[in-house]
Amino acid sequence: MFDSVDGGAEDEVTLGTNREIFKNIGFVPRTLADVSDRNQEVDLFGVRSRSPVIVAPMGLLGILRPDAEIMLARAAAASGVPIVLATGSSASIERVAEAASTARRWFQLYPFRDEAINRSLLARAAREGYEALVVTTDTQIAPNRDRDRRNGFSLTSRPSLRLALDIATRPAWFWRMATSGGIPRFETLAAEMGGAPSAMETAAFFLSARNWNVTLEGLLQIRRLWRGPLLVKGLLSVDEARQVADLGVDGVVLSNHGGRNLDGAVSPVEVLPSVAEAIGDRVTILVDSGFRRGSDVVKALALGAKAVLLGRAMAWGVAAGGQEGALHALSIFREEIDRVMAFLGCRSLANLSRACIRLGSERALRNSLV
Ligand SMILES: Cc1cc2nc3c(=O)[nH]c(=O)nc-3n(C[C@H](O)[C@H](O)[C@H](O)COP(=O)(O)O)c2cc1C
Repeated sequence: MFDSVDGGAEDEVTLGTNREIFKNIGFVPRTLADVSDRNQEVDLFGVRSRSPVIVAPMGLLGILRPDAEIMLARAAAASGVPIVLATGSSASIERVAEAASTARRWFQLYPFRDEAINRSLLARAAREGYEALVVTTDTQIAPNRDRDRRNGFSLTSRPSLRLALDIATRPAWFWRMATSGGIPRFETLAAEMGGAPSAMETAAFFLSARNWNVTLEGLLQIRRLWRGPLLVKGLLSVDEARQVADLGVDGVVLSNHGGRNLDGAVSPVEVLPSVAEAIGDRVTILVDSGFRRGSDVVKALALGAKAVLLGRAMAWGVAAGGQEGALHALSIFREEIDRVMAFLGCRSLANLSRACIRLGSERALRNSLV
């Protein structure tokens, strides 16, 4: 379970790049500004967020802890930041809305070939007050994750002997699972399937019914179905960012899926400045993949992002400490962002600019960033 969350694709080169990249961006502090009070609020689609972070969509987090998504949503609500619930969530659209009614909830869609399913999912999300829709386009086929292969971790087949033995050595985890309904399923999709499908059935349905290839035409159809803000997640190309901006989306999430899909893919931070230059004046630019510290977030904001999505940092928070753990993870980001802002002489995020950072010259990266 740990490896399936922690791991990346193949040799995990991109997983490493996602962290390494930040070492090539240095801060240029300003020391003479009055920074006695600081404010890290940001406006996201007309609503103030208390901090420039968003909980990223992550499927099947129930394998870490029962009701992990609900705990994350409550922590997000308490911290005044949005959470994106995944199509593959193990707590349903409705259950999360009810349990965390004050959370700013967005919904992530992996579109399905059957239009009726998309329509139904979006109607459910709209009815339950999910504000924005995030369509993920970077998972065109099943990724190749060596750790999952080695561990025999698969959603659609029975656990391998090795996995079963591993589970036997984690009694606390096993007890939590056993007393909360067993192996988590894709609960949001279970409703679309009717009846009471098993975990393996929901997984098989998810994999077989998905529309793995979302084209511009497909995005246009979704645009017609969704009235609120629409974002496209998983872009790394300036051209594609421009294309979706022309289509009328409200935001993009530059992402390599946390290094989980195409190994060797560039870090979103590398393309961020060019994308910001191309579409920053008309589309909200968000970014994720590899953000583990407040300083990473501030660097991305200085390069043109409006906010940052947090994946594993939040998964580990909730895995280790439930709702309190998730809250703690968000508070660490908040404190670190605040501290960096002070050292940079910034009282608000509007003060952040390219002048606050300097790009390292250790790697050829400098050229690609400019
Ligand atoms: C366990 C796990 C499950 C994920 N599931 C989804 C998903 O269902 N949909 C999606 O758009 N992104 C998914 N992602 C990617 C995240 O939304 C995000 O892009 C990524 O985690 C960011 O990188 P980070 O983990 O380094 O912060 C998942 C990531 C993880 C770690």
